Amino acid sequence: MTQSLLAKQAYELIQADSSWLPALSNVAALLWESMDNVSWVGFYLKQNGTSTSMPSSPAPELVLGPFQGKIACTRIAWGKGVCGTSAATNTTQLVSDVHAFPGHIACDSASNSEVVIPLHTASGSVIAVLDIDSTSLSRFSVQDAAMLEDVVATIEKLIDWTAFEPQID
Ligand code: SME
Repeated sequence: MTQSLLAKQAYELIQADSSWLPALSNVAALLWESMDNVSWVGFYLKQNGTSTSMPSSPAPELVLGPFQGKIACTRIAWGKGVCGTSAATNTTQLVSDVHAFPGHIACDSASNSEVVIPLHTASGSVIAVLDIDSTSLSRFSVQDAAMLEDVVATIEKLIDWTAFEPQID
């Protein structure tokens, strides 16, 4: 498969700076600028949960990362909603009508369709998801999902998940 223009542009951006925070920030902006009829684009990142009921082995959760669009939910339980389902099942979720998806989390009540794609570490475990929403029903095609999986594969090849933590003096 030939690499899409978006994947090529993502490649250039991440080559310039592969630290996860600037890389994901610029890819979110790239997709936001490039895709029509999209109401939210962003990443949620896996973090060990903060649940106090089982402090020894808290369930992981997804925490809001770099995005473009309206204010969004900050934490999503692993396995919940479209994002949590994508992360927990390690599968792309192409949802033509979010209102028909059991447990959909409505950060924006105007959202009607979405696509969510998992991102992996070099060893293959899920570390984040890319979430793109639209106010139109059935906005995303199977071809869109394949193109976005190509962008995600480009991110996975180049990104450095360890390279950035803010310095606390
Ligand atoms: N729709 C998502 C929640 C995230 S927001 O849409 C930004 C879901 O059900 O996982």
